Amino acid sequence: MIDLKGSNIILTGATGGIGNSILENLVSNGANVLATGTNDKKLKSIKESYESVKTEKFDISNHSEIENFINLASDNLGGRIDVLINNAGITRDNLSIRMKDDEWNEVLNINLTSTFLLSKNVIKKMLKNKKGKIINITSIVGHTGNIGQANYTASKAGVVAMSKSLALEYGKKNININCISPGFISTEMTDKINKEYKEVLKSKIPMNRFGTPSDIANTVIFLSSNLSDYITGETIHVNGGMYFS
Ligand SMILES: NC(=O)c1ccc[n+]([C@@H]2O[C@H](COP(=O)([O-])OP(=O)(O)OC[C@H]3O[C@@H](n4cnc5c(N)ncnc54)[C@H](O)[C@@H]3O)[C@@H](O)[C@H]2O)c1
Repeated sequence: MIDLKGSNIILTGATGGIGNSILENLVSNGANVLATGTNDKKLKSIKESYESVKTEKFDISNHSEIENFINLASDNLGGRIDVLINNAGITRDNLSIRMKDDEWNEVLNINLTSTFLLSKNVIKKMLKNKKGKIINITSIVGHTGNIGQANYTASKAGVVAMSKSLALEYGKKNININCISPGFISTEMTDKINKEYKEVLKSKIPMNRFGTPSDIANTVIFLSSNLSDYITGETIHVNGGMYFS
């Protein structure tokens, strides 16, 4: 077990497949978590399952409210944010020539712009505390490209480049900014892939299986802890060997 006792952590997308597993692991390692999402029912169920977890409904596409949200989250966590985990993300797949402006804009807005604005506002708080960590969940396809996902791949590649820039800007302030790039993980997001294509994908994974949400959560725990204090600007690939840089 890695001790995260006393660590104040904001987790976005806590109601999703990977988010749920990250939450469970953070709690069992002793972190104080503020979990966010957009689904009332799922947030209520988080509250019922984990007494210590604070929940806040917030739609991260609401850019003009992000600063207020971070202020509120910081107050809720006793005035200090140690870790921000930008896990919320969406897909709106379509072949490029058919892709509608809203499909492009929505994905870029949520996956890239919201991640930037959340990070920017949290960094302002972390500068006062003279330390902090940001963990951005990207995707293997942000490195490889993927058919039907020009919007999603661009957003995730953008997060990697943005994270490197933030790491350069705030390294000397003791703020680590890293990415975790999952391969294909069994969740609602990948449930949408048809059975035949899933078999094709599996045949390309040296470890011959899709990942589990806990494969990602374990890496989040490492990057949230002081074991990763000298790592910044990095992307950790968690994909069963399907891609490495
Ligand atoms: N499942 C995979 O195979 C896979 C692979 C690579 C990367 N990822 C990334 O991992 C992260 C989690 O994915 P998942 O598989 O758990 O997906 P999911 O669809 O199960 O969960 C996504 C989460 O994001 C939240 N979210 C979406 N739009 C939001 C908004 N506007 N405001 C606030 N919250 C919002 C949802 O409420 C949900 O909690 C995403 O960033 C995704 O791109 C997933």
